[in-house]
Amino acid sequence: MTASTSPVRLAVLASGGGSNLQAILDHFESLGDERAAEVVLVASDRAEAGALAKARANHVTTAVIVKPADGPALVRLLEMHRTQCIALAGYLKFVPAEVTAHWHGRIVNIHPALLPKFGGAGMYGRRVHAAVIAAGEKESGATVHHVDGEFDRGGVIAQERVPVEAGDTPESLAARVLVAEHHLYPRTIQALAVKLSTSH
Ligand code: GRF
Repeated sequence: MTASTSPVRLAVLASGGGSNLQAILDHFESLGDERAAEVVLVASDRAEAGALAKARANHVTTAVIVKPADGPALVRLLEMHRTQCIALAGYLKFVPAEVTAHWHGRIVNIHPALLPKFGGAGMYGRRVHAAVIAAGEKESGATVHHVDGEFDRGGVIAQERVPVEAGDTPESLAARVLVAEHHLYPRTIQALAVKLSTSH
């Protein structure tokens, strides 16, 4: 980033522990002036989400999304923080169409499998990894994709592969995939932010 370009304002939506959020914060911290985005808001549908605690510990503004299905309210919240780009990081609620339309091409998600396989409604957490093992897949991984009106159906932006090993349990596979997520997601967001900041 040049001194004249401010980082893209990124909001992260999360429902869970927030390890991907932490990886994003750590990566931008390590990039220093080269970072193309900064996390300006972490919002969650769960007041007790670990992601909110992590955000607070990192001095990032937080918000609780009281009615996740209320699109106009979520747009207002995100606009209030002048959000330019959105990353879903373990956000388990459907993102209303008002939001995906407003941030079209600027809202992304990470999924813990190689989409288009093992995605869709209900495919989250342990279930994804159990399905991958049950299908006898030799590989799994992480996928970063655009978010549109359907669960896990937006265009794929980047993937990182990991092997499925003999004797893997959903938990052991999840742990291996999570390492790939933490590597892939911050780098993909940085690349997207570079693109966004040079495209206008
Ligand atoms: C990750 O596996 C992510 O891919 C999925 O939910 C999990 C979130 O973990 N969508 P965390 O909250 O980032 O630790």
